[in-house]
Amino acid sequence: MSSQAHHHAARRAALNQRLPAGLVILPTARVKSRNADSDYAFRFDSDFFYLTGFHEPEAVLVQVLGDAPKSILFCQPKNELREIWEGFLYGPDAAREQFGFDEAYAIDQLDSKLVELIAGQPRLYYPIGFDERWDRRIQGVIEQVKQRARTGKPAPIEFVDVRHAIGELRLIKDDAEKASMREAGRISAEAHIRAMRLARPGQFEYEVEAELHYHFTKSGSRSPAYGSIVASGANATCLHYHENNRQMQAGDLLLIDAGCELHGYAADITRTFPVGGRFSGPQKDIYELVLASMHASFDKVRAGEVRIGYHDAAVRVLTQGLVDLDILKGEVDGLIEREAYKQFYMHGTGHWLGLDVHDAGEYKIDGVSRKLEAGMVLTVEPGLYFRPLLADSPAHYVAVPEHFLHIGVRIEDDLLVTADGHENLTALVPKDVAGIEALTVG
Ligand code: GLY
Ligand code: MN
Ligand code: MN
Repeated sequence: MSSQAHHHAARRAALNQRLPAGLVILPTARVKSRNADSDYAFRFDSDFFYLTGFHEPEAVLVQVLGDAPKSILFCQPKNELREIWEGFLYGPDAAREQFGFDEAYAIDQLDSKLVELIAGQPRLYYPIGFDERWDRRIQGVIEQVKQRARTGKPAPIEFVDVRHAIGELRLIKDDAEKASMREAGRISAEAHIRAMRLARPGQFEYEVEAELHYHFTKSGSRSPAYGSIVASGANATCLHYHENNRQMQAGDLLLIDAGCELHGYAADITRTFPVGGRFSGPQKDIYELVLASMHASFDKVRAGEVRIGYHDAAVRVLTQGLVDLDILKGEVDGLIEREAYKQFYMHGTGHWLGLDVHDAGEYKIDGVSRKLEAGMVLTVEPGLYFRPLLADSPAHYVAVPEHFLHIGVRIEDDLLVTADGHENLTALVPKDVAGIEALTVG
C-alpha cells in the first residue's frame, strides 16, 4: 500500500466508526462529453476520491460497514488494446495492492457482486438522487435481492444518503489534506503575484488568465479549481463574470478570482488591483473599506466562534463604511436589519474549502450556525460592487455617487481554523495598498 493510501484507509475506517452497519455504494463521476467524440477532462467525484485516492473513471467503492468491515473497489480491467488508445489502467489486482483495498473486481462484475453484498444488509448508504442512471441501476439490483429474499437474506429497509456523513468527515482536514491545501494556496498566491506584476493596459483579460494558468500548470497543478474570473473595469461588478475577453484600459481595477487544484484540493483567492498603476482616490476608498471588513472577519475565525460570526463582522464594517462614504444614509443597526448593504454586498463572506471549491459539510446544525472547529478550512471574501440603477432596480436601491460607479472590489483568502485562531494559507499575495502598488507600478 502506498503512503497516501493509509490516509484514505483511515477515512474509510472513520466512516465505519460514524455510521451504523450497512453497505456503502459510491460511484465516481462520469466522463462527460464536450462535443462530438471529445470529452471534458475527467474529474473524479470528490467523495469517492476522499475515501479511495483512486482517480480512474468507471470505478465504484463498495464498503461493508460493521464489525467485519471490508472495502471493495470495482474498476476497469487491464486491457492492452484500450490502453494503447487511452493510457494506463491499474486493473483490479494492482489497484487493490496500491490503494489498500481488501478486494477488487472488474467493473462488469459490479451488479452480480452487489446482489450478494446487499442481501441481508440492514441499510444501504448511497448518493440518492445524484444520478438517475445509477438510481435505476441500484433499484434493479435491489429488485433482484428482493426476488431472492426467501433464501433468508432480505433486502435493506433503510436507504441513507451517504454524502451527508462523508461531508461531515471532509469538513475537518487531516494532515495530508492540510499539506495539499497549503501547497495549493502557495502556488495560487504566486500566480496572483505574477498577474499583478504583468497586467498592463492594452492587454486582454485572457492574457492575464494565461499567466495565471501558466503558473498553475508549471507548478504541478493539472487544472484550475474553478473557472477563473479575470474581470477588469465594470466587469468586476459581475460576480460570476467568465468571458475574460475585454481589453484593459489605464485606470482600470482588475478583479481576479482564481485558484489552482492540487492533488484534488482547491485554492480560492481573489485580489483586486490597479492595472499597471496606482489606485485612484475613490478606488482606494472602496478598497480600504473592503480590506478593513476582511480584517474584522479574520478576528472571528477561530475554534469556538459561530461560523456566521465572521460574515456578521464584515457586514457591520461595510455598512458603517458605506454610511461614512455617504452612500447609505441612516443608523448602522437599522441599515443592517433592513439589509440595505445587500445592494452593494449581495453574497456571503465565505464557504468551506477542500476537494470542492464550495466544499462539503453543513453550515447549520438544527437550523443554527455551527461553531468553527480546528481543522476546518474556509474562505473569507468580502466585497463591494457598485452598479448603476436600472428601471427595474428594487425601489429601495439608492443612486451611487458617479465616482464610485462601476467599481467592483473583492478580496479573498483561505483560512485553516486552529485552536487559537487560524493559519492563512494564501497570505503570501499582498492585500495592503502599498504591497499591491509595489507590484503593479514598475
Ligand atoms: N471562486 C468561487 C468563490 O469565490 O466562491
Ligand atoms: Mn470563494
Ligand atoms: Mn473565489
